[in-house]
Amino acid sequence: MRTTVVLRDPAPVVPLRCTVTAATGVIEARDVVKVFVARSERRRRRAFLALHDVNLAIQQGRFVSFVGPSGCGKSTLLNMVAGLIRPTEGAVHYKGRAVDGINTDVGYITQDDNLLPWRTLLENVEVALEFRRVGPEERRDRAHRYIGRVGLDGFEHHYPHELSGGMRKRVALIRTLIYEPDVILMDEPFGPLDAQTRVILQDELLRLWEGTGKTIVFVTHDLVEAIALSDEIVLFSRAPGTIKHVYPVPLPRPRDVFRIHADPQFPAFYERLWRDLKEEISIVDLEGAVHGNR
Ligand SMILES: Nc1ncnc2c1ncn2[C@@H]1O[C@H](COP(=O)(O)OP(=O)(O)OP(=O)(O)O)[C@@H](O)[C@H]1O
Ligand SMILES: [Mg+2]
Repeated sequence: MRTTVVLRDPAPVVPLRCTVTAATGVIEARDVVKVFVARSERRRRRAFLALHDVNLAIQQGRFVSFVGPSGCGKSTLLNMVAGLIRPTEGAVHYKGRAVDGINTDVGYITQDDNLLPWRTLLENVEVALEFRRVGPEERRDRAHRYIGRVGLDGFEHHYPHELSGGMRKRVALIRTLIYEPDVILMDEPFGPLDAQTRVILQDELLRLWEGTGKTIVFVTHDLVEAIALSDEIVLFSRAPGTIKHVYPVPLPRPRDVFRIHADPQFPAFYERLWRDLKEEISIVDLEGAVHGNR
């Protein structure tokens, strides 16, 4: 669902604003605004406000999830951290410096696994180490270690088309984790998978991450997944997106993702999140219906 905002005649914007102040955030968004300019049906240029008033600080070592309606700017904010796009106003800071160009320090797992079809599983896992000029022996050792940790031994010489969807996601995951970036951005990494495979991968991800001190920023539409994995959940408003609320997840660690519903804290926290998210989704649906009737 898409809400187009023409800046000359702006739609009312609810001034929701969330400022989490912390001088030491590994990632900080400061007063971020993003306006995209795109061609409309009659080839007129239209400005589209995607994000406004985004203020957020993410601390090193935290697992933080972004949730919010489709089109509210979650991927746009991740792309800014990765340096793929720039804010129209404000700045995104990474380790204290404004991101200005591609940020090669972060690992980015996009929704599409982007495996190289002409390379085997092992060669796909090694690719980031090749770019970093790690020698062949160490490369192979590290690749085998990570392949073993996600149960893919025996498939090293398979090509991507010979792997299941879940296996491909595992390869995409360890291909990024292998070079041990301090910050890993994950955009709906388990989106298209069946429910069982998703939970197994969530469990594997937690076991790979716990104790590493790495920061993960994870986008998902699945509130249960966000609760099971995260330290904090950032709820975006409907488009034009801003941050509606940041929730600390009250469930203790270590977490059993297979029995997360059984945690006594789960039901009330889930209800609160869903109630707040639903307000944003139903308004988008309503606007979509109005646009559709024009
Ligand atoms: N390069 C671009 N040019 C024009 N508009 C864009 C561009 N990138 C994103 N947008 C628009 O900005 C808005 C936010 O997009 P974004 O992909 O960040 O949303 P999202 O929250 O990740 O949605 P989803 O949950 O569906 O992935 C959308 O309306 C999208 O169409
Ligand atoms: Mg997205």
